[in-house]
Amino acid sequence: MRVLSGIQPSGKLHLGNYFGAMQQHITLAAEHECFYFIANYHALTTIQDAAQLIQLTRDVALDYLALGLDTSRAALFRQNDVPEVTELAWILSTVTGKGLLERAHSYKDKIAKGLQPTMGLFTYPLLMAADILIYQADRVPVGRDQVQHIEMTQDMAGYFNQTYRQEVLVRPEPLLSEAPVVPGLDGQKMSKSYGNTIELFEEPRVTQKRIMSIKTDSTPVEAPKNPNSCNAFAILKLLANSAETQQWTDRYRQGGMGYGEVKKRITELFEERFEPARLRRQQLAKHPDQVEKLLHEGAERARAVAHATMQKVRMACGLIRV
Ligand code: ADP
Ligand code: TRP
Repeated sequence: MRVLSGIQPSGKLHLGNYFGAMQQHITLAAEHECFYFIANYHALTTIQDAAQLIQLTRDVALDYLALGLDTSRAALFRQNDVPEVTELAWILSTVTGKGLLERAHSYKDKIAKGLQPTMGLFTYPLLMAADILIYQADRVPVGRDQVQHIEMTQDMAGYFNQTYRQEVLVRPEPLLSEAPVVPGLDGQKMSKSYGNTIELFEEPRVTQKRIMSIKTDSTPVEAPKNPNSCNAFAILKLLANSAETQQWTDRYRQGGMGYGEVKKRITELFEERFEPARLRRQQLAKHPDQVEKLLHEGAERARAVAHATMQKVRMACGLIRV
């Protein structure tokens, strides 16, 4: 089974990215052939400052490595190190109806948030489909917000294969984590673009402040509380083991507990979980050449698969001779 996923370098990574996507990416690498890339072409839809894009791209690489991605098993690389994806995106655009792209929620959400409706933003799903199909991926681990894009990819693989009457492209399936939607500080989906994140690698002081600002209701300390409608509980649950989660569930229901206590415990659990990675990241950041070398090796592995797919695609549509 071949696994593939991508993360845009469009801002600092956060708990939503970790529990929705990255944690799965790292564990899947122990058992499957995995390709993970940093989607810098996609990030051009929002980051239009060269120095910033370089920096954010390197940050994502550092984040993955610090969190323990085993690059001897998984190929980690930059999207634009395999530029043929843009060729495949073009080819897919010639077999895909405009209506399919017009139905994309993510495009509509981004426009509603005030992003410019560029062609890049509109055709984002075509490039994403090319990313997946060029590596003949079977499974794509992502958060729930990306599922529609994977379904579009399935459609596009079908359109291509039907048009050219050959099974060239493999139909991928999404793979959802146990936490497909992680709430942010305000209870909406945690997202870089909502400013409601808990970043993975902030200074502990800043992280603590963010956690203390998780929005909770005004139920008095003595009153029983409902864990299932509490934002802080949803975040606690991601970090605590099941026995501890059960204890907190009981304490919520009994009353006599303030939200400050929960937040304090979240801060401790966060620190226990991410401190080792933060320290590893600081060390790795001192060796940019090593990071560069790993990305380069990852790209070599990815390119070999991409080239083979593109030869089949080009032959199927008559761009080169059989
Ligand atoms: P953001 O919304 O912060 O810009 P991205 O769109 O770059 O995040 O998402 C990168 C990956 O992380 C995707 O697979 C996405 O599904 C996952 N992800 C992002 N935010 C969340 C969240 N709040 N809960 C679960 N998964 C998430
Ligand atoms: N659209 C994804 C996101 O915003 C990033 C991405 C680009 C991706 N290409 C991909 C994810 C291919 C999975 C597979 O998170």
